[in-house]
Amino acid sequence: MKSVAIKAKKEFEVKDISEPVADGKKVIINVKYAGICGSDIHYWENGDPKGLVMGHEFSGIVEDPGDRTDLKKGDRVTALPISPCGKCEACQRGNIQYCPETWNQAVGLSVDNPGAYTSKIAVRSDMVIKVPANIKDEEVAMVEPMAVGLHAAHLGCIAVGDDVLVIGAGIIGLASATFAKKEGASFVAVTECNELRGKKSVNLGAADAYYDATDEKTVPTLLEKTHGGFDVVIECVGNSAAVNSALTLVKPGGIVVLVGVSTDAIPVYTALPVLKELVVQGAIAYNYNEFKSCIDLIANKQINVMQYLDDVVPLSKVQASFERLTSGKDAAIKILVDPNKE
Ligand SMILES: NC(=O)c1ccc[n+]([C@@H]2O[C@H](COP(=O)([O-])OP(=O)(O)OC[C@H]3O[C@@H](n4cnc5c(N)ncnc54)[C@H](O)[C@@H]3O)[C@@H](O)[C@H]2O)c1
Ligand SMILES: [Zn+2]
Ligand SMILES: [Zn+2]
Repeated sequence: MKSVAIKAKKEFEVKDISEPVADGKKVIINVKYAGICGSDIHYWENGDPKGLVMGHEFSGIVEDPGDRTDLKKGDRVTALPISPCGKCEACQRGNIQYCPETWNQAVGLSVDNPGAYTSKIAVRSDMVIKVPANIKDEEVAMVEPMAVGLHAAHLGCIAVGDDVLVIGAGIIGLASATFAKKEGASFVAVTECNELRGKKSVNLGAADAYYDATDEKTVPTLLEKTHGGFDVVIECVGNSAAVNSALTLVKPGGIVVLVGVSTDAIPVYTALPVLKELVVQGAIAYNYNEFKSCIDLIANKQINVMQYLDDVVPLSKVQASFERLTSGKDAAIKILVDPNKE
C-alpha cells in the first residue's frame, strides 16, 4: 500500500509499505483521515528518522478488532497514538502521558509503528475508542490536537475572570485558547508572527484579540492592558522568542504553560521566572479522560473544530501541504490527509 515517509530534511517520498497483518491482538484500522500536526512539521524539518510514516491524529473504520471483543468490523474509531505501559506509578495514577514508555511505540511517531499517512494501520487495542454516530470522520481526526489544548488549559489552572495569553495560533494554540475561554477566562489574547493566522484566530472566535509578535510595541501594550501581565500564558510555539515573551508577559506569581516543543536547546532568561516567582508548567499530550472528553465535546457541538479545517489532500500533496503550513504567509491551520487518494 502507498504511504508517505520521511526521506530527507523537508522531503517526503511516496513509497510502498507492507500492509499490517491481523494478529488477534492489535486493531487493524482502515484510515479515513489523518491530521498534519506541528510535531510532524518538526520531524519533517529535521528529516529524522528517515522512513518514518507519520500520522498520529486519525479517524478510521475497524477492519479487524484484534482482542477487543466489544468492537466489530465496520465500527468507526480513533485511538490515542501513545503506548503507556499500564503498570508504572504514572500509569496507575492515570497520568499515562508521562509514562516513560509512552512515546517508544507511539503510532506515527516511531519507525516500527507506521502512522496514518497510509491506508491501513495496526493500533494497540486498549488505545482504540469507538466514536458516536454524530461526529464526522474529519472531526474525529482533529480530536487529538484538541485534547492537547484541553490538557494545557487544565494545567494552566485558569480561574473565571482570568486574563490568558496564548502564544502561537496554530491548531494547538487555537485549541488552548478555545478551552481557556471554556474554563472562564474573560480575556484571551493571541500573539502570532503570521498575521493571517492571528487575525483568523479572532475571526473564528477562538481569541478576543490578536497582537503581532514581531511588533516591539506588543509587549508594552499588553503589559499596560493587563495591568502588569496575564494570569496565565500558554506557549504554543517552542522557540526562544516565544518562551521569553511568555515569561515576560505573565504577571508575577502567574503560570506559564509550555506546550511548544523545541528539539534543540534554546536560550531562556531564567531571571524572569526567578524574580517573578513564576510557575513554569510543562504540558505533554493528554490523559485518557481528556481525549475522551474532546470526542464528546465535538459530538455534542460544544466545540466547533470544522472551522479549523482548511483542506483535505491526497498522499501526493502531503509535501506541498507541509510547505504551505510552514510558509508563514498562509492562513491555513489544519490540513487532513486522505490516504486512500493518491
Ligand atoms: N506538548 C504537547 O503535547 C504538544 C502536542 C502537539 C504539538 N506540540 C507542539 O506545539 C507547538 C505548536 O503546534 P501547532 O501544531 O499549533 O504548530 P504550528 O507550527 O501550526 O503553529 C505554531 C505557530 O507559532 C507561530 N509563531 C512562531 N514564532 C512565534 C512567536 N515568537 N510568537 C508567536 N507566534 C509564533 C507560527 O507562525 C505558527 O503559526 C509545536 O512546537 C508542536 O510540536 C506539543
Ligand atoms: Zn498531534
Ligand atoms: Zn507506565
